[in-house]
Amino acid sequence: NKLKVVVSRDLGPDVMPLLLDNKELDVVVWPHNSVCDRKWLLENAAGASGILVMLSEKAKLFDAAGPSLRVVSTMSVGYEHADLKELAKRNIRFGYTPDVLTDAVADLSIMLALMAGRNTKETTEIWPNFVWSPFAFCGPQLSTTSTSPKRTAGFIGFGRIAQATLARLVPFGFQHCLYAANPSTPADPAADAALAAKYGVRELRRVLLAELASESDVVFVLAPGGPATYHIVDEKFLRAMKRSAVLVNTARGTLVDSDALAKALHEGWLYGAGIDVVEGEPKIGADHPLVKAPRCVVLPHIGSATTDTRIGMATLAANNLLGGLFGKDMPAELNTSR
Ligand code: GLV
Ligand code: GLV
Repeated sequence: NKLKVVVSRDLGPDVMPLLLDNKELDVVVWPHNSVCDRKWLLENAAGASGILVMLSEKAKLFDAAGPSLRVVSTMSVGYEHADLKELAKRNIRFGYTPDVLTDAVADLSIMLALMAGRNTKETTEIWPNFVWSPFAFCGPQLSTTSTSPKRTAGFIGFGRIAQATLARLVPFGFQHCLYAANPSTPADPAADAALAAKYGVRELRRVLLAELASESDVVFVLAPGGPATYHIVDEKFLRAMKRSAVLVNTARGTLVDSDALAKALHEGWLYGAGIDVVEGEPKIGADHPLVKAPRCVVLPHIGSATTDTRIGMATLAANNLLGGLFGKDMPAELNTSR
């Protein structure tokens, strides 16, 4: 009696054999190179013991899958698309893909900070007609200079990806790090001191958003999505930023009020923005306010899009599924009953 598993995207020749070659599994895979159709997913989930989904799939599959469902595995580090309460209630195990994408997303965060500060949006658009002048397209410098030796990085959310981003900023001369964290977790100055020593910075402190906005030369949005962080970067935050600062969002579009950010860029409250995630994605038209905003680089959610990282994520998602199906350890299981 084989266990049925449903996989909402083909995970490619490096990873699919982990599932397809397993004689105990009956594997059903969405057959197209497009977002898995919801109706197809619900139909095929019937009788399934395991389901492997992407961020694009709202993982509320319980009624369709019924009591046979043992495990849901998502190929993403974020899990705001999953109903954790319901999973816990039904004793369905849940796997996700932390760690394997940390470096790729930290790399992209640095890239966007540089692209926003150097205004690559407008300079690439204009280059055939570019006319040089001493201060044409000059913006802030990410690394320290002799006239401007202090750099402060601000992080909204200070988990693995934020810390990997900080590690990359230290060689640019960043010696000051401010972060804002979930208000329900208590402040821990001793842990902050240990992190300051680990990353080799002079200052590392948890602060309120107002101080983070006004003191940072670059703000990285790296907290989870969901209702608790909805529009945490709003008009008030943006108005408080330095006019020379840049904002980078490589987390979730819902953390930033897009209309307020577009207005801020048009009016110069901050210098530029680098955005890998937009509220309402993937349906972002060419007339979206952020696509039209000056000095705003917009990417289509490619933070983890390197070959090695995506193979790592897909492998981890497949191994999470297998662990959950056979009652074994899952390499990255989320404790849903917290
Ligand atoms: C990407 O956004 C992820 O959650 O993996
Ligand atoms: C994800 O949420 C992380 O910081 O790794």
